[in-house]
This record gives sequence, C-alpha cells and structure tokens, in this order.
Amino acid sequence: MSQTRDEQEIRSEGGFSRRDFIKTAAAVGAGVLAVQAVGGVREANAAEEAKKEAAAATAAAAGKSALKLDQVLKVAREKMYPRCRVCPECDGVACSGEVPGMGGIDSGAAFRNNLTALEKYKLKMVTFHEVKKPDTSITLFGVKLSMPIMSAVTGGVTYNMGLQGKVSEEEYMEGIVAGCIQAGTIGFAADGIGDPLAVYETRLKTVAKYRGQAAAQIKPRTQAEIIERIRLIEQAGAPFFAIDIDSAGRASRALPGRTVEPKSLKQLKEIAKSTKLPFIIKGIMTVDEAKKAIDVGAAGIVVSNHGGRVLDHTPGSAQVLAAIADSVKGKIVILSDGGIRYGADVLKSLALGADAVLVGRPLIRGSVGGGPEGVALILKKMQGELVVSMTLTGTADVKKVSRSILV
Ligand SMILES: Cc1cc2nc3c(=O)[nH]c(=O)nc-3n(C[C@H](O)[C@H](O)[C@H](O)COP(=O)(O)O)c2cc1C
Repeated sequence: MSQTRDEQEIRSEGGFSRRDFIKTAAAVGAGVLAVQAVGGVREANAAEEAKKEAAAATAAAAGKSALKLDQVLKVAREKMYPRCRVCPECDGVACSGEVPGMGGIDSGAAFRNNLTALEKYKLKMVTFHEVKKPDTSITLFGVKLSMPIMSAVTGGVTYNMGLQGKVSEEEYMEGIVAGCIQAGTIGFAADGIGDPLAVYETRLKTVAKYRGQAAAQIKPRTQAEIIERIRLIEQAGAPFFAIDIDSAGRASRALPGRTVEPKSLKQLKEIAKSTKLPFIIKGIMTVDEAKKAIDVGAAGIVVSNHGGRVLDHTPGSAQVLAAIADSVKGKIVILSDGGIRYGADVLKSLALGADAVLVGRPLIRGSVGGGPEGVALILKKMQGELVVSMTLTGTADVKKVSRSILV
C-alpha cells in the first residue's frame, strides 16, 4: 500500500516526533477536518457554511466579495494538505526541508531566517503628529500601484503542492494576476525550470490578457533561451521582467538538454541591452552584487534568498537589506521579499530601504483557497495593516519612510 509522506516520516523516525507534533498542532489549531468529524460540530459547521454562502451570494449580487480569510485558508488546507499544512503562522517550521513543497531547503534555516530577521526590528510607536491619512500608493516602472506590495514569483505551484486535478497552473496564475489587479497591484507570471517553451507561452497568455498589469519572470537559462523569452514578454505587454539569478543552483531539476546557470557580468549586460523593458535581478544578497547590478544596466533588484528555497543558511533578507539600500538607494529600484506576513513587515522593509516588497507563500494560499478574491483579500488585509502601522509611527507616505521608526 502506498504511504503518504507524513506516514513515511513517522515510520522512518520510529514514532511521533516533535515535527509531527508541530504539524498536528498546526492542523488542529487551525481547525482541520478531524474536529469537524464530530457529528454535532459538523452540523453546526454546515449551518454556518450555508449562512456564509448566502452572505456571499448577497454580496456578489451587490458587487462585493464576502469571502472571509478563514474560508480561504480552510479551502487552501483541504487542497494542499499534506504538502502545505496552512499553519496559523507561515514560518517554515512544520515544512522545513520540504522542497518540492512549501518549505525551505534542507534544514529550513534560510526560510526561518527571513522571519527572524524581520522580527529583530521593532516599531517605535508615535501618536502625536499630523498624519491623518497615510498614502500607500507608489509608481513602479510607470505602473501605478495602490500599495508597495506585489505578488512574488511562484512557479510550479501545482507540482509543489500536489494540486494536479484540483487546481491547474492556469487557474493558479489567474488567481495571482487577477487578484493583484483587484487589489490595485501587480503579480508575476513564472517560468519553471522544467517547463518547455509551450508551457511558458500558455502562462504569457494571462500576461497578455491583462496587458500592462502583469509582470513576467525568466529562469537563468542559456542566453538564447532568455532572449527568446524576452521577445515573448514584450509581445505580451509586461511592463517589466525579472530573472531569478539564484535558481542557478537548481540545474539538476532542468530538463535534459536545458540548463540554468550563474551569469557573468558580460551575460547580464547582454540581457539588459537586449530589451527596452526594465530588467530586475532577483536573488541579490550582498552590497557588492547590488552595485554590480547597476553596472550591468539592471533597473531593479530583489533582495531575496528565494524564500529560503535555494541555499540553506543564508541570512534573512531583512538582515542584509539596510546595508544594500545604504549603498544603492535611488540608483536602482530595490524590492525585497521573504517572510513578509503583515503590514508591519512591509513598513519595516520600507524603513530598511526597500521601495516595495513581494509576498510569496501567503498569496499561494490565497490563490489556491480563493482564486482572485482570495489573493485580493490577503493583499487588502496587509494594506490595512500597513495603514495602521503608518498611522502609529507617524509615517505619511510609503515613498518616504524613515529608518528612525525602527527600534
Ligand atoms: C512554491 C514556491 C515556488 C516558487 N517559485 C519561484 C520561482 O519560480 N521563481 C522565483 O524567482 N522564486 C520562486 N519562489 C520564491 C518566491 O518568489 C519568493 O522569493 C519567496 O517565496 C518569498 O518568501 P515568502 O514566501 O516567505 O513570502 C517560490 C516560492 C515558493 C514557496
């Protein structure tokens, strides 16, 4: 009989480990199915569900979404478990080492470091000031955004989360892209290492559908493959594109005859020169490479350890962000990602020098659990939290966040 991954883990570890306890606790804490199996609770839940459905129908008729976060997370959990437990806090503990999956690579330390690096900074509360209505809007490469928060690049989600037959790549991507647009921001269409060109072309159809409102990403493939994809991105009308340069370490996952590779400065220059579109280099973790990104003609960088999925024991992005911003702020657009879960995390990142942030795993949960509405709901929640954080730190504008708000 085939075993689930969890069953295999329990057997191989010879009992009930701490990790299994965390998994179970997370699942129970979040109200997973076992609780609902109790008859009375099930009936109460059914009545509750019916009420929610009626409320959703009324709201839909009025043109509003009544989707609630707990519903989105419940559906996400049902679809992704055990690949993702949809823990109350998405912190990389229960899923450590689970790549493919939702986790961080190997020990999972790099994923967790993203959260602990942000946690080290605290916000200074200030309440005597004139800031009545904080401004969260920005313009990024000519695109107006309602908030300095975008969807991160998340490719191969159906494969990573075992969603085959439940959510297609197209549905997933539609959720991300359309959800970002609903919230007034922008998302990325991803490129998978193993994807042939035809699959990439399918994803770019969504970019073309939302012309000018969806960005695209390319893996660090051979130069010829990258340039070929840049032409397609231009045709699809993406306003900018990124290459996750740090995927170079995942060559073993590329298809036979294809490759991903580290890029020389000469190759990066060639890529920047090959297009008028702003080129963003994702996976910058040092001041030295941030400066070099400017030299090669990149328009932006993403300070990122790829959500801790490519190299174990890297620092959290927030740990290196300030030094990078001190060196290149104003000369190149600085984006940052990793462990951003709340509006306060966004504000901390801006105070450290980011112009905007990207959010990965929380929006995967949003798209799988609620499609575009689920993604928009999570983004708007973060925007609301950002407004509160700005109000209580006396920050008027996300474009001018002082580092002095950090303790
Ligand atoms: C399932 C999954 C797939 C991802 N796929 C890609 C990818 O194809 N390209 C990329 O640049 N980053 C990818 N990432 C990393 C994200 O873009 C981002 O850097 C990271 O998720 C941010 O951290 P967070 O999830 O803690 O917000 C992926 C992350 C996850 C969880």
